[in-house]
Amino acid sequence: MARGSVEAPVHLDRADTRPLSVQLADQVRAAVTEGVLRRGERLPSGRSLAAQLGVSRTVVNEAFQQLYAEGWVEGQHGSGTFVAGGMEHLPRKPVQARAADPIDPPPPQTTDREGARQAGLADLRPGAPWVGSVDRAAWRRAWRHAAEQPLDDSPDPRGQPRLRVLIAEHLRRVRGVRVGPENVMVTRGTGHGLDLVGAGLLGQGERAGVEEPGYRKAPAIFAARGGCPVPCRVDRQGLVVEELPEGLSALYTTPTHQYPLGGRLPVPRRERLLAWAHEQGTTVIEDDYDGEFRYDVAPLPALYGMDPDRVVLLGTLSKTLAPDLGIGWLVAAPETVEHLSRLRAQLSDRTPGQPQAATSLLLERGELDRHLRRMRLEYARRLRLLKRRLGPWLQGDTAGLHVFLPLPAAAVGPVVAGAAEQGVLVVDTTHCSFGAASVHGLVLGYGSADTAALEWACDVLERLLRDMTGNVT
Ligand SMILES: Cc1ncc(COP(=O)(O)O)c(C=O)c1O
Repeated sequence: MARGSVEAPVHLDRADTRPLSVQLADQVRAAVTEGVLRRGERLPSGRSLAAQLGVSRTVVNEAFQQLYAEGWVEGQHGSGTFVAGGMEHLPRKPVQARAADPIDPPPPQTTDREGARQAGLADLRPGAPWVGSVDRAAWRRAWRHAAEQPLDDSPDPRGQPRLRVLIAEHLRRVRGVRVGPENVMVTRGTGHGLDLVGAGLLGQGERAGVEEPGYRKAPAIFAARGGCPVPCRVDRQGLVVEELPEGLSALYTTPTHQYPLGGRLPVPRRERLLAWAHEQGTTVIEDDYDGEFRYDVAPLPALYGMDPDRVVLLGTLSKTLAPDLGIGWLVAAPETVEHLSRLRAQLSDRTPGQPQAATSLLLERGELDRHLRRMRLEYARRLRLLKRRLGPWLQGDTAGLHVFLPLPAAAVGPVVAGAAEQGVLVVDTTHCSFGAASVHGLVLGYGSADTAALEWACDVLERLLRDMTGNVT
């Protein structure tokens, strides 16, 4: 093996926030992985590398020690530092996804939300709330409070006791369900709640019903945990209970405001659904993602309240406050909460303490309620605008942050593409289907588009719809 000395291909950036020793170690690793530095090659001495880079010997020593520890370099006492052998087996390309994983297809427009905002596009893709109205002073106060809390060396996997009490009170007040802290587990959001259900309540290969069309992340998460998602039809009111298949261990549903068609599951259907679940021994997973936003009448109480032993309720602050906060809840019978908390402990799965402490203060001081009141007015204004402009085309209940606009299948692609050409981003139900779309149309989110963007989007959509629906039957 050649043992010649090489030039170290490194350059440190003092504007980079990472420590210099970390940058140096990263660059040596990258050079080895990419084959720029080869096995057996001798690295410059610590002294000359420090001089070359204009840093102290300590920086170089720290980086080398780390690289030694990880096995990237080896040294013989007094004879220098060499690129270690045996690195060839390290993976050079990303691990391949399993072909069977139902990963979301890429969105029709790959523009991220920030990119869309900067480009001045009207972004009506559903899923995002209006974070611009979050009271910054209250937000800062909450985080200062969080920073002042003592650090917990053994956090409770169910979440902080104070927050669990506050969430139980919030649910009693806002969603009309009677729960205590023993029913509440703090999660990082609905996706996390679904993952816990998939890992802890669904056995390998067990069947989990999901709404079709529906929230595509549910089948993706269940399948990733080894469950077998089964599409269950929904109509304009929600799940069609009479058609539910047998043998489901779990059933995911959005009864308050079906995603994406917007149905509100009527009480008789709720009763039939729970009777069916009881008979079948199926656990019902109720996603109450936007239950706090209703603009006409009070929301129907959560399904959970009708049968707390059979239903697991998932809630989130992603829509009511901001997805960035990463706080949600799972509400269930105390035994289920205990079972899932043991699982979380095993998986070392935590909800970080600081967002919990910040959320506690927001709840305690009534900031969340104030924010909800403000946002209900704002979203109601946006919804009125959409109904005024696109009313005859719209379908679904007046709740939440999106509306559904049914279209003939052949019109969907041209409308989505035509809108994008004019700077309006929308998605259609292919993004809400587990397999081929069974219902066709646009899912229009008004959470993150202001009234000016909505007016403009309505101009564009109105024109396109008149043209398209005139031409396509
Ligand atoms: C149906 C549905 N459930 C839940 C969520 C929120 O999920 P999370 O709390 O994981 O952000 C969304 C967000 O778009 C949603 O559309």
